[in-house]
Amino acid sequence: MTEPSIPFFSPSLFEADRETALRLVYEIGTAPEQRFILGEFTARLERELAAVSGAEEVVLCGSGTGALTMALAAVGVGVGDEVLVPALGCAPLAAAVVSLGAVPVFADVNPGTLTMDPADAEARVTGRTRAVLPAHLFATMADMPRFVDLAKRYGLRLVEDSAVAQGAVLRGRPAGRWGEIGIFSFVQVKSFGMPGEGGALLTDDPRLAERLRLFRNHGQRPGERFVHRTVGWNSRFDELQARFQLHRLPGLADRLARRAAIADRYTERLAPLAGRGILVPPGGDEGRCAYVYTVLADDRDALSQYLQVRGVATHVYYPRPLPRHAAFARYAPPGARWPQAERACARILSLPLHPGLTDEQVERVADLVEEFAGCRPVSHR
Ligand SMILES: Cc1ncc(COP(=O)(O)O)c(C=O)c1O
Repeated sequence: MTEPSIPFFSPSLFEADRETALRLVYEIGTAPEQRFILGEFTARLERELAAVSGAEEVVLCGSGTGALTMALAAVGVGVGDEVLVPALGCAPLAAAVVSLGAVPVFADVNPGTLTMDPADAEARVTGRTRAVLPAHLFATMADMPRFVDLAKRYGLRLVEDSAVAQGAVLRGRPAGRWGEIGIFSFVQVKSFGMPGEGGALLTDDPRLAERLRLFRNHGQRPGERFVHRTVGWNSRFDELQARFQLHRLPGLADRLARRAAIADRYTERLAPLAGRGILVPPGGDEGRCAYVYTVLADDRDALSQYLQVRGVATHVYYPRPLPRHAAFARYAPPGARWPQAERACARILSLPLHPGLTDEQVERVADLVEEFAGCRPVSHR
């Protein structure tokens, strides 16, 4: 198959930073202290992310999945506890729960935002429910005010999966700052992605932060070795990546603005297709994270194919609800349905959205989607 002319992910994510990356490999690799994990750059990045987000504490760790697992453990989720998670989303949402011996209870999603529906989640609360784990997905933050309220009313712990939502703001409060703990992922395709694996935990609670620092390094306190105060994980942050992220942090706002501008342009071009079987995601700035641009298309597979043969790569995040995967099927009560998640899985299609796209490429994608919907004459490019 030929390479798409408009790839889904940027083919040159860190092109502009290549020389810096090489220099940092050399500098850190040859520095006398030979410190490669959890050193001064990790600590500095933690402070800078805390300053940007307003969190009292930021704890960097090995991945977004590690962050979710440790966050749930830190708030006390353990064997037999139930945790409310969205039925539509990525595997780590359920896997983190299962890895602690707890039970994911899948709630359906809101058909407009495609994030967990607070009313459906509430209907699934039982005496064993310990925590609720809403996730910001696609372009939209979950309805955090209602999840805060739900957690309060039932005495649940609230962990916020903001892996994809760095930079989004809802009612003046940034993503990652609504839960008792919020998390980010820095895997390469995320908004603050990097050439490797990493994640962050944000909290205002110093006791939670202390537990998280223990957890990420096998139960050892910072600076302490071979004193294991609890069983933890190896989820440490890499010094080279920390130094690279310190270099990339000042450009993040511009990259996020470019993503948002592309999303706005898609919406401007594609919103008129609502009567032709293609729905755009919620617009505006409020609670919006321009991480992926996901339309709902009645004839999704045909649209995807139409774009693909014309050189535009798309992605289906996510082809099936979590409880419909073999890994999680045992947590799906017999006969249970998640109608909105199931309907969304048959219709969702994400278009290319990354800061490296040119205006011309964005127009080309929009032209083709319009063309597919029958709104413009077929081009012969
Ligand atoms: C919503 C969400 N949560 C959690 C994760 C896990 O992050 P990571 O890939 O860094 O483990 C991801 C990304 O893959 C994600 O999209």
